[in-house]
Amino acid sequence: MNHSPLFTALKGNNISLKNRLAVAPMTRVTASEDGCASEKMKRYYASLARGGFGLIITEGIYIDRAWSQTYAFQAGLTSTAQVNAWREITDAVHRQEAAIFAQIQHAGALSQGNHYVTETVAPSAIRPKGEQMPFYRGEGQYPLPRELSDSEIEEIITNFADAAARAVHEAGFDGVEIHGANGYLLDQFFTEYSNLRTDRWGGDTAGRMTIGLEVIKAVRARLGADVPVGIRISQGKVNDFVHKWGKGVEDARVIFSLLEKSGVDFIHVTEYEAWEPAFADDERSLVELAHQYAPSLTLIANGALHDPGRAEEVMAMGADLIALGRGALANHDWPERVKADQPLNEFDRDILSPIADIKERELNQ
Ligand SMILES: Cc1cc2nc3c(=O)[nH]c(=O)nc-3n(C[C@H](O)[C@H](O)[C@H](O)COP(=O)(O)O)c2cc1C
Repeated sequence: MNHSPLFTALKGNNISLKNRLAVAPMTRVTASEDGCASEKMKRYYASLARGGFGLIITEGIYIDRAWSQTYAFQAGLTSTAQVNAWREITDAVHRQEAAIFAQIQHAGALSQGNHYVTETVAPSAIRPKGEQMPFYRGEGQYPLPRELSDSEIEEIITNFADAAARAVHEAGFDGVEIHGANGYLLDQFFTEYSNLRTDRWGGDTAGRMTIGLEVIKAVRARLGADVPVGIRISQGKVNDFVHKWGKGVEDARVIFSLLEKSGVDFIHVTEYEAWEPAFADDERSLVELAHQYAPSLTLIANGALHDPGRAEEVMAMGADLIALGRGALANHDWPERVKADQPLNEFDRDILSPIADIKERELNQ
């Protein structure tokens, strides 16, 4: 495994990393009630960095004090106190010679615990599918959201850029990942059934991408040309695992082509199993489609890639970086173990039970 492509350095598109292994973003609801990252989170991120990951992408972080907070005990990037708390973590990760990107998130209709407001908002006033997640202290249906106005959408775009600036200029992050995946606000705009708007924020696939592209533009303008900026996208959602883009490969072509020209350095695609065909009528995976239609961008792949052979297979499909979620939770030192040909722990769901917060036993692996 020492000669695996997983352990080669990466350089390009503003991104410089010691290997191809990233920790996937994972919400662990271990901040204070008012959104300050905690000492336990610092130990968790430092442990993953010490384990050899070249890049850590943080859990989703809320961007403003309005509707963006998604879960109770989630960390924010909206105040000096929150920025200072993250600074401790970025310093600790840098001491272990890893890089750390902030994932910036807006809940939209999927908020199930907001310190600031009770109302939820969305592209259209449609109750989300599915139910709130018990392991993030939710229960029952999601509330019915209110439709956002044009000026509120503009404000959210500015709030993404402000949070990105605080992340990089004040909290010491090396880059940002805009959360455009998994059913949260930007994905609610991308998705036919949650976006019925007929203004410039809705319509066809390209129209529904408008807010995401505007967020990228605003973040890029604020951070300048040299700071890594990327976006995570997916088909599935936390409240609709099996969703597929309605127009299949044609949607993939439109989405990845638009992202290629959008000003991002990287795209992070996540699927349940990253190597599987993305659509029933075509054999290519989402990684292969992203590589084909956005060839100049750095590509991060995620989805059940904790087996090193699978990870290499997906790199051969065009991924530049492999992001591990459950595999990293089970093995904070996955890179070191694999490099040394040591066995890996199986992921144990109990680590996220009954609440998905960081457990002491996980830090003492
Ligand atoms: C506890 C937990 C929390 C997660 N939180 C986030 C999150 O904050 N942002 C995000 O984009 N994905 C989140 N995810 C999804 C993961 O990033 C990843 O896509 C998923 O675990 C599949 O990858 P894996 O098969 O390597 O685990 C979370 C997953 C888990 C298990």
